[in-house]
Amino acid sequence: MAERETWGTRIGFILAAVGSAVGLGNIWQFPFKTSTEGGAAFVFVYLVAALLIGLPAILGEFVVGRRANINAVEAFDRLKHPAWTVVGALGLLTGLWILSYYSVVGGWVTRYIVGSATGAYFAAPAEYFGRVSMGWEAIAFHGGFMAVTAGIVAFGIEDGIEKATKLMVPSIIVMLVGLAVYAFTLDGAGAAYEFYLSPDFGFIADNLGTIVPYAVSQAFFSLSLGMGAMITYASYLGDDDSLFADGSLIVVLNTAVGLLAGLVVIPLLFVQFGTVPDAAAGGGAGALFVSVAQAFADLGMAGRALGVVFFGVVLVAALSSAISLLEVVTSYVVDNYGYSRPATAFGFGGALFALGTLSAWNTAWLGWFDSLAYGVLLPLSVLLGVIFVGWVYGPEAVDEIQKGTSNGGSFATAWLWSVRTYVLAGVFVTLYLGVTDIYS
Ligand code: PHE
Ligand code: NA
Repeated sequence: MAERETWGTRIGFILAAVGSAVGLGNIWQFPFKTSTEGGAAFVFVYLVAALLIGLPAILGEFVVGRRANINAVEAFDRLKHPAWTVVGALGLLTGLWILSYYSVVGGWVTRYIVGSATGAYFAAPAEYFGRVSMGWEAIAFHGGFMAVTAGIVAFGIEDGIEKATKLMVPSIIVMLVGLAVYAFTLDGAGAAYEFYLSPDFGFIADNLGTIVPYAVSQAFFSLSLGMGAMITYASYLGDDDSLFADGSLIVVLNTAVGLLAGLVVIPLLFVQFGTVPDAAAGGGAGALFVSVAQAFADLGMAGRALGVVFFGVVLVAALSSAISLLEVVTSYVVDNYGYSRPATAFGFGGALFALGTLSAWNTAWLGWFDSLAYGVLLPLSVLLGVIFVGWVYGPEAVDEIQKGTSNGGSFATAWLWSVRTYVLAGVFVTLYLGVTDIYS
């Protein structure tokens, strides 16, 4: 058997993982969930969840991937027993489910590049969102986004992806900082910072049952967990890499982009609406599009150029995430069933396009797909992974996580303790609350 490829450099792995992690989850979903789930209270719980649950969980996926050195489904067989491949299979399924509507939002972003160039949304941003987010136009742009995603996965322009990611993260940060500063200068932004940054702990206590599951699932979604992506990427990792160092860096970068996006979107919403629009603009889902579009409209001609650049960079972020979602299933199917890469990528891309037309037709469908992912699929998939790595694979996982670190011993034991106890409990509670929330 041929020697398996590894990442040329440590930075190659980090960039790919960050490219997968940083996406619509940070720039679109995080501000939108923040606006509907209680503002700073949500932000606070999210930060705790990302650090205390997200980080140990991402390390668990790294362990499985690097140790098994194979795709995200067979990894569980190679490490333990064929029965455990259901965990990997559920991850694949969750990723496909999510990609079906992720692509719809990717289509909106693409639509907004065009809309920025022509100034089409300048007159009435909220109404514009309502028009282009649903129906035939949304389906067409969803199709375009999915086709490009499948095309890249089919023909593999890996160099391009790596270069794009290298540029993408700094440019996203620069643009978001610029917009955040601009928003800060506007009248009426003050109330937004109160809403976004000053958590009301009484509110958290009263609403634990909804804030916790949303925040924890948001951390999973945002860190690309429970979908095989991080297992796949870590499978190409060499033994001299510190999983803990890499994982921490990825969690910090990913969180920073989300926080920055909120610093843009929430103030812009308050400036326009005096509050966060729940029902306005198609619910929270339109928050990013309506608020940022209004800011560009206010800037006139310069706003057109800025809009093209901004939504262009968001599109690259969305694409690099979508690619990693489709890549997980494609590499598995190509490895195991011997289908060609293009046929597999376009086959799944086509099927997911069809499934996603529901979400593109009406945002109510998109909301339903999203709540099933958040409430059930993501926490269930992560829960099974955590049980596997903590209780089934346990001691060997400790051995794996110590590699590449000099003082790994006590840290590795603490990590194993965490995944066996409170991380597992936290994910279980998230799943329980998510399920009861959906079926209430
Ligand atoms: N983490 C990505 C985002 O925040 C979404 C994603 C999930 C990508 C899972 C790949 C795998 O947008
Ligand atoms: Na993310």
